[in-house]
Amino acid sequence: MHILANKNLANKHILLGVTGSIAAYKAAELVRRLREGGAEVRVVLSAGGTEFVTPLTFQALSGNPVHSELLDTEAEAAMGHIALARWADAVVIAPASANVIARLAQGRADDLLAAVCLATEVPVAVAPAMNQQMWANAATQDNLQRLRARRIHQFGPAEGGQACGETGLGRMLEADDIARHTAGLFDTGALAGLQVLLTAGPTQEAIDPVRYLSNRSSGRMGYAVAQAAAEAGARVTLVSGPTALATPPRVERIDVRSAEEMHTAVLARATDADIFIATAAVADYRPVAPVQQKIKKTADNLSLELVRNPDILADVAALTDGPLTVGFAAETENLLEYARDKLARKGLDMIAANRVGNGLGFEAEENALSVIDAEGVTELAQAPKTQLARRLIARIAEYFKRRLG
Ligand code: CTP
Repeated sequence: MHILANKNLANKHILLGVTGSIAAYKAAELVRRLREGGAEVRVVLSAGGTEFVTPLTFQALSGNPVHSELLDTEAEAAMGHIALARWADAVVIAPASANVIARLAQGRADDLLAAVCLATEVPVAVAPAMNQQMWANAATQDNLQRLRARRIHQFGPAEGGQACGETGLGRMLEADDIARHTAGLFDTGALAGLQVLLTAGPTQEAIDPVRYLSNRSSGRMGYAVAQAAAEAGARVTLVSGPTALATPPRVERIDVRSAEEMHTAVLARATDADIFIATAAVADYRPVAPVQQKIKKTADNLSLELVRNPDILADVAALTDGPLTVGFAAETENLLEYARDKLARKGLDMIAANRVGNGLGFEAEENALSVIDAEGVTELAQAPKTQLARRLIARIAEYFKRRLG
């Protein structure tokens, strides 16, 4: 049963922190549950954790080396705390002792697990396990309140008999429950059963066999949106211009170069899609006809004649049986006004407008979006692109369900 229930775990990277508590033995079972759901698991074992379970147990169960040292050159070289923080899709600390909860509340970075928690931008969850008096202590409760204010998730604890012989709150949840809550960290399957088509990246417009016109789009926002759509349960096809990015898990990627190739690839698939999201920075113009041989530098001046490229998004929006269409608008000024104009002009259902310049935009790690549709404007505050993409997908799913679902 739990395998189906935890399908959101498929291909997820779970960093499991195990700290000093008698409940550490249940973490061994948790590794198995997470892997049964399709997740890859790496374990960070705190010094306290090693008093209760051996690294070998977790190495055997996770199929990965166990991490415990922060300042070990060899371990840092293999996969240091920053690399671990980046690797993870979620960090789950189970069991989380009163001590680790206090240290997280203080934002310490004096062991590997604490440093990873500080360095990561993905969801972090604690599954507390401690004696009921320690749990009830105001210091512990204050610390947990601070963690909640920082959006750190809390799984449990449960009530019942404790290893120390007392009864009360403080027992760690069972492995099955923690695995289910972990799966719940990854969206809700809001797009389950839907087909999402996306464009991403720049396009390259050939001038001659060795030169092209292009732009600075990294494709990061589009790839993050594709990943978020896949996480939300959609079947995702990503038509991508040239980028240096890895294809997100469970996303079908079709590589193209020019706007015309992208246009052909998209229109061939558009009527099968439920939702089309155009994040690509499509070149507006291309050289009239690429020269067959490399252009030699003979003349002092050289003019290129350019011709307009087809508007992929507008053409999809114009299909009678077409998908819900979502466009992107990058503007340096009059954000909402220009975006609304684009929405109307291209006949879109929704447009995600972002301000470019001042550290935001194409090459930045973070972004912020104003999402405009018939229901009004939804502001998605500045955040790393992966998180912002998840919020955008949540908004698209909500709108889709209300309008067409
Ligand atoms: N788009 C597209 N095909 C094109 C051009 C743009 O699909 N040939 C899509 C982009 O993926 C994006 C939206 O349209 O979703 C951006 O609109 P666009 O007209 O390119 O914006 P700007 O170039 O900024 O427009 P303007 O010059 O009018 O500001």
